[in-house]
Amino acid sequence: MGEHVLAGKSIVLGVTGGIAVYKAAELVRELVKAGASVRVVMTENATRFVSPLTFQVLSGNPVFTDMFKQDVYDINHISLTENVSLMVIAPATANVIGKIASGIADDLLTTTVMAMEQPVLICPAMNSRMYANAVVQGNIKRLVGLGYQFVPPGYGELACKTEGEGRLADLSAIMEGIKRALTPQDLAGQRVLVTAGPTREAIDPVRFISNHSTGKMGYAIAQVASRRGAEVVLVSGPTYLPAPVGVKLIYVSTAGEMRDAVLSWKDWSTVIIKAAAVADYRPSTQAKEKIKKSEEFLQISLERNPDILSEVAKEKGDRVVVGFAMETEALIDQAKKKLKEKNLDLICANDLGEPGAGFAVDTNRISIIDSAGRVEALPLMTKEEVAYHILDRVREVIDDRIRGRKGRD
Ligand code: CTP
Repeated sequence: MGEHVLAGKSIVLGVTGGIAVYKAAELVRELVKAGASVRVVMTENATRFVSPLTFQVLSGNPVFTDMFKQDVYDINHISLTENVSLMVIAPATANVIGKIASGIADDLLTTTVMAMEQPVLICPAMNSRMYANAVVQGNIKRLVGLGYQFVPPGYGELACKTEGEGRLADLSAIMEGIKRALTPQDLAGQRVLVTAGPTREAIDPVRFISNHSTGKMGYAIAQVASRRGAEVVLVSGPTYLPAPVGVKLIYVSTAGEMRDAVLSWKDWSTVIIKAAAVADYRPSTQAKEKIKKSEEFLQISLERNPDILSEVAKEKGDRVVVGFAMETEALIDQAKKKLKEKNLDLICANDLGEPGAGFAVDTNRISIIDSAGRVEALPLMTKEEVAYHILDRVREVIDDRIRGRKGRD
């Protein structure tokens, strides 16, 4: 599973006529790169914007445009719906949304949608006034009620020189919508609070103490938890990463700010995963003005920051609390000790000495330790795959709790 969620999947991409058709070409490239096989069906209007040849070359498959040219590709009007994992419509015009909502099937694309048993994901793109139109909104509402999924359009400048809501969602949001549609929603109903990134402790107005954390591990956990159906709040120290799709992001800077944000979301959460590299110390005083150089030696006195993880885990109730331990020696013993002392359900132990593990890389190598002391040593894998493993274990702890509660009843 993991980030290979698209590998080997068969996707039908419906393309309707709008200026955003060229973005659908990019989408085909991304899907093929991720290992999916893509068959494209275009409306006649879509072919006026981009030639079917573009999609044929990018997908490596024939492109379907006409219901009555069956002899050419040996298809009948519903054969595109067979052995398919998902149908995506991008861009989807107001017109095609209206047709689907009203049960009209007057071309190959709409016929395919009507016969589709697998999920259909619709990515609208249109002028903002059209998108705001009550009929269009009513159609979307109706389709959502019927189980159709949507990636809402983004806000920005439109081809017609107006600005507003209506432009096709970003490629990253569409890709995430597709991954989500193909992923079992086994964390639905969970509310996951994740922390990520470093913290910064100011010395004076221009300098701070921080660490090498980039936030990649925590961001991957937040994204995958959301993809698996959880509601996710991500409390992040300063990073350069794009915001995960569908996640509420709260930026903080210092450990104190991170503590405040975590405590204010604690009661809301059912799961807390603390992947942040919180500074253990902060300067005891912060100079109001920039410190000028003078003496040969300068001392900065530091004082302890609150341990956020211990604080939330102390009174965790039924919450599942997961910590990280980054060590340079005696990894497993240190991690087990932290798990006990901090009252955690799981701890992910990171050996900084391992190649491919730790800060600023896309891979990680961790061991997951549970409260019974069991150690699961994972091989080197991408941070996204690590996120899947951690969340699998979280799911197990939740299931154990549910079984335990049932046993007591
Ligand atoms: N953590 C925290 N608040 C702090 C320090 C750490 O919430 N002030 C959390 C981290 O997010 C991580 C876990 O505690 O999940 C372990 O952090 P680590 O720095 O490895 O452990 P410490 O308990 O700080 O111990 P030490 O620095 O002595 O190894």
